Amino acid sequence: MCGIVGAIAERNVTAILIEGLKRLEYRGYDSAGVAVYTDQGLERCRRTGKVAELASALDAHPLLGKVGIAHTRWATHGAPSEDNAHPHFSNNELGVVHNGIIENYQELREELKAQGYIFTSQTDTETIVHLLHSLRKQHDSLLTTLQAAVRKLEGAYGLAVIEACNPKRILAARSGSPLVIGLGIGENFLASDPLALRQVTDRFIYLEEGDIAEIEREQVQIYDANFTPINRETVQYLDNAESADKGEYRHFMLKEIYEQPKVVQRTLEDRLAKDHVLASSFGADAETLFQHVQNIQIVACGTSYHAGMVARYWIESLTNTPCQVEVASEFRYRHVAIQPNTLFISISQSGETADTLAALRNTKDKGYLASLAICNIGTSSLVRESDLVLLTRAGPEIGVASTKAFTTQLVGLLLFTLALGRAQGRLNTQTEKEAVAALRLLPSKLNDALSMSAQIERTCEFFAEKQHTLFLGRGEQYPVAMEGALKLKEISYIHAEAYPAGELKHGPLALVDSEMPVVAVAPSNELLEKLKSNLQEVRARGGELLVFADRAAHFEDSADTHVIHMPSIHELLEPMLYTIPLQLLSYYVAVLRGTDVDQPRNLAKSVTVE
Ligand code: F6R
Repeated sequence: MCGIVGAIAERNVTAILIEGLKRLEYRGYDSAGVAVYTDQGLERCRRTGKVAELASALDAHPLLGKVGIAHTRWATHGAPSEDNAHPHFSNNELGVVHNGIIENYQELREELKAQGYIFTSQTDTETIVHLLHSLRKQHDSLLTTLQAAVRKLEGAYGLAVIEACNPKRILAARSGSPLVIGLGIGENFLASDPLALRQVTDRFIYLEEGDIAEIEREQVQIYDANFTPINRETVQYLDNAESADKGEYRHFMLKEIYEQPKVVQRTLEDRLAKDHVLASSFGADAETLFQHVQNIQIVACGTSYHAGMVARYWIESLTNTPCQVEVASEFRYRHVAIQPNTLFISISQSGETADTLAALRNTKDKGYLASLAICNIGTSSLVRESDLVLLTRAGPEIGVASTKAFTTQLVGLLLFTLALGRAQGRLNTQTEKEAVAALRLLPSKLNDALSMSAQIERTCEFFAEKQHTLFLGRGEQYPVAMEGALKLKEISYIHAEAYPAGELKHGPLALVDSEMPVVAVAPSNELLEKLKSNLQEVRARGGELLVFADRAAHFEDSADTHVIHMPSIHELLEPMLYTIPLQLLSYYVAVLRGTDVDQPRNLAKSVTVE
């Protein structure tokens, strides 16, 4: 959400900082600022709005210096105002930029006020800079001061500090919020995302959890969580993985499918404490608000609607909160009987889908408790008009068929479920711990699923000549099957329908014959035996099955059944994992049929009209 850039060089660094901020803008922002050590000492410039506003302010009144830090902010604590924008200063001696959320900031703030510090913002970040200033008096160096300060901070942070009395270094610390050092020749850089620094370097060192780094022009020294000096690996990027070109991939869709482990990782960053989800990831008041939620109404379209349908299973089973899910085009024109204390959740990749936006606008003054947007675009109307927000950080999605937006929405919705359950005191602590631990492993599990790509490609010939397909699932795999069917129909133009497997015998079974392949999403969970009986009904009618299942489900290949064995995963995360092979399946079938994968006929990326 927020973005950090830092630079130390022999040249003026302001232009580097501004360019870095521009590259981070897609993550969402409401204000931006730069602090530079000039010949007048530490000086800063901050503006609300776009980075362009900050850039023109700096054009009018340039700040020239060889060391600086900069930030794009997405407001969590305190409104989007100039006072709340970073960098924050303490006595014009120290400057700090910070991503993440400091959970014990109120307590620290009171202690610092008692010492005479005057706060000029409502942010948690200003607490950090005054804390550093206060501790600095007892320490010889900024490094040991920072080491002492991080011991007092609870929550998540990626932060950078500069100091007026020693402008030859930038200090950085990471815990729960990413930071990467960019290596130059006679100059070095810092950022929350390497994308911000690709114009100045292709060599990076990723800081690990608990690391503190001292960055100078000619050298970088990193200390681990025990404050022991440590060498971290340098990685070199040969191309820009997130630029708006396809890179090594034939289509944007394939590139975006492969980006999922990375963007899911990013969706999780700064949002997990050791064993729970940080409710403040949804907004400063989210935790208190969640305590009052008695009902949930989710509204979305297309793929985003499927994400909402998965979330209903999680929300009701983990938090026992009643949850309704509806497509926005219906919801917006329906008389809705609103239940007390209902949280309205909209889900959207673009944040500009006309029906979803209209549905949100219709809720105003209707007595909803609050609105929450789960969205990929920080600057979108949906985000601006919602009370609470979780950005999914999938990065630009260019393929019309939504892929990485869906999996990151699922991650965002599971984070929401866990934060809600915790705030309401309804979440079993062991379940919470296990879910958080499993979420941390999700990116590597998604990589395992992607490594099955060649195997999935081989099964596609079976589909390429068919005109109709059925997708089956039960429980939270039913919406996953719906998403699989939507992907196949929109890019390969094969008619595909999804059914909850138990519904088969109530009608669709009549369609099944050897020309109608049936895809089943079948992880080994409590509904597996029921699903197996439904699949027998298909076999008995001469249908051919493609089954995605883990080994514990005990499916074997046979004349009428082709099985793709999936890695095992925590049950809550099955929807994310099983989505991957279904995306790959649609992609390879579409390639085989020679359709326009990235821009399928009749469709547009963002549906801003009704
Ligand atoms: C399908 C797809 C669409 C979108 C739908 C909502 O692959 O991309 O179904 O999911 O148009 O769009 P957003 O999420 O931008 O509101």
